[in-house]
Amino acid sequence: MNIVIFGPPGAGKGTQSNFIVKKYSLYQLSTGELLRNEIKNKTKLGVEISSIMNSGKLVSDEIVSNLIEKFISNNEYNNRFIFDGYPRNKPQAENLNYLLKKYNQKIDLTLKLSVSLDSIKKRITGRSVCSICGKIYNEYFNPAPINAECCASKFLQKRSDDTLEIGVQRFQTYEKNITPVINFYKQSNLLKVVNGETTIADINSEISALIEDVKGWL
Ligand code: AP5
Ligand code: MG
Repeated sequence: MNIVIFGPPGAGKGTQSNFIVKKYSLYQLSTGELLRNEIKNKTKLGVEISSIMNSGKLVSDEIVSNLIEKFISNNEYNNRFIFDGYPRNKPQAENLNYLLKKYNQKIDLTLKLSVSLDSIKKRITGRSVCSICGKIYNEYFNPAPINAECCASKFLQKRSDDTLEIGVQRFQTYEKNITPVINFYKQSNLLKVVNGETTIADINSEISALIEDVKGWL
């Protein structure tokens, strides 16, 4: 089963993907994470994309396509993808279909997490990520446990694009590009809209029910 999860910045794509990956033995392909790794490793590409990401704009379609094809073509992950943050515009949605077809795969479910800009502001400015295990926290909504060994405060990191200003810019970039993507998946009857404003646990349950439903007729 291949799943696409999309939604505005801070909608909970990563949080929900972490849970889906464990429960259904899928592989999370987050284009944001792949790009951040390039920056962290100071690769040539990382140097090229750093300022684009910190302006809240999209990296070029070609760069992201090259990164994801390496995974889609790898048999190890065949039919086990959750695409987190890809596609973000119509050319990317068409390209994902093309790449999956090339490697004899398809999308089975597309989840759109809907969250308002007001909620997103707090989710972005309050977020921190454990540099050891990758768990995602939020100082307002789900703080890291006190006295935790792995997720102790000294290991919690903020993303450089998680300021209010860049967050709003990322939201605007999302709004500008996403309507054709929504229509693209609506036309193929793959789109399920999930209310991303409820609790993390409630969203977990709703997504699980949608996945079970799709599994039933695969
Ligand atoms: P990316 O890393 O994908 O960032 P994003 O899309 O802005 O999304 P986030 O990772 O910020 O949010 P999320 O939805 O994963 O939320 P999370 O679960 O962490 O991309 C970064 C950049 O890379 C882009 O701006 C672009 O430049 C580039 N890029 C990436 N993909 C690209 C592509 N395809 N093409 C071109 N460029 C690309 O949750 C957020 C916070 O909210 C956390 O603190 C969490 O604890 C909290 N939270 C989650 N759910 C809930 C809830 N239900 N209630 C309360 N709090 C919650
Ligand atoms: Mg994310």
